[in-house]
Amino acid sequence: MLYRSWGTNKDEVINYTSSIDTDNAILEEVKMTMKAHIISLYLGGYITKEIAKRLLSSLNEFKEIGQGYEDIHEALEDFLLKKVGEDAGWIGLGRSRNDHVATALRLKLRNEMIEILVEINNLRKTLLNKAKEHISTIFPSYTHLQLAQPTTFAHYLTYIEEELESRWELLFSALKQVNRSPLGSGAIVGSNVKIDRIKEAELLGFDDIIYNTMSATASRADLISAISELTVLMTALSRIAEDLVFFSSNKLVTLPDSHVSTSSLMPQKRNPVTMEILRAKAGESIGILVSLLSIYKGIPIGYNLDLQEMNKYYWLLVDYVKSSLKVLNSLISQIKVNNVKIDESSLATDDAEILSINKRIPYRSAYFEIAKKVREGSYKSTLKIEESINMKAVIGSPNFDLITNLIKIKEIKLEEDIKKIEEYKLRILSKIGELQV
Ligand code: ARG
Repeated sequence: MLYRSWGTNKDEVINYTSSIDTDNAILEEVKMTMKAHIISLYLGGYITKEIAKRLLSSLNEFKEIGQGYEDIHEALEDFLLKKVGEDAGWIGLGRSRNDHVATALRLKLRNEMIEILVEINNLRKTLLNKAKEHISTIFPSYTHLQLAQPTTFAHYLTYIEEELESRWELLFSALKQVNRSPLGSGAIVGSNVKIDRIKEAELLGFDDIIYNTMSATASRADLISAISELTVLMTALSRIAEDLVFFSSNKLVTLPDSHVSTSSLMPQKRNPVTMEILRAKAGESIGILVSLLSIYKGIPIGYNLDLQEMNKYYWLLVDYVKSSLKVLNSLISQIKVNNVKIDESSLATDDAEILSINKRIPYRSAYFEIAKKVREGSYKSTLKIEESINMKAVIGSPNFDLITNLIKIKEIKLEEDIKKIEEYKLRILSKIGELQV
């Protein structure tokens, strides 16, 4: 176990520098990476089929990491040496923990991102379905948290969907950057071993390779880009959570029973606890991104152990994103909108616009005319709320017909995105199927 160390490392050093606890998250991915490496050594003619087979079958038995190791890679090598004997020493040829950990991290993040992209689509579907039920459900809109103009609940829901569609695009493109293989790059300059890096990448379902071996082993920029997109997603979700807390506080909506808790003292309370937690997790997410960037910014070229300390944060954030998307989906699918009375003053803008358009007077003059009445308390609307909504003439506004059309367009785009990620996933799975001798 200590064959590679300079001496008997003290426990305090091992404990301080070990990544064993966080390495559990990438156990399967480390095994996959090693599989591809073993196959590569066999294809390159360095080990016999028999040795390759023994290594691969022993590898399958590796289930958990014992204590006392520096990391999972060391533990795995030790495990194979014990199982297979001296021949296991071949795995050290043309490989470093640096290229292996970089590969495992990308494999894991790739899977998590695919799951998240599917989860975003699930939420988009819920939002569009719900929006169809609420095309004519009148709802207030706010700027500066002051009542603005009347809208519909469908309009609010499609706002969320639009935010998600945009995040989806950027995350999908971040995924393609993440899904490139660093494997075969050794510690920093590659190795003298004829490893077919392209073949290895194909075996693992990567789209491409990271060409420069220095970049392959030392860069985490693609991972950080993905994490940063996920953090933007969390902040967008957090704003929705804040809206829902506010809407429920003002009795505009009733949140599902399963999403509220009551007070130990005040029996009438319906506290919007899931949305409060989501808001907090978005704050933590920003902290995670800042931690990653802060560790990363001063690391000189080549692998440095600082990079290891970033690993735990990826999975923490991914976990927050997945659970938050699911919780929001569940809430939206069960939310009830209350019959709300919207103050007549919210129609003042419509009246000013009508005045300007019908009487052909500049908007500012019409505005002053209406504003004077509002200030004097004599303003009376000439419109009903529903008329105000259906007079809206621009694409993307809550007008019942326009939003019905928009939802149809959004549904088509969503179906395309559902198909895109499904095909991407299947392509990876079909390649990984070849991962044996
Ligand atoms: N445990 C490390 C990590 O997770 C990989 C090992 C690299 N260690 C080294 N001494 N080069 O990043």
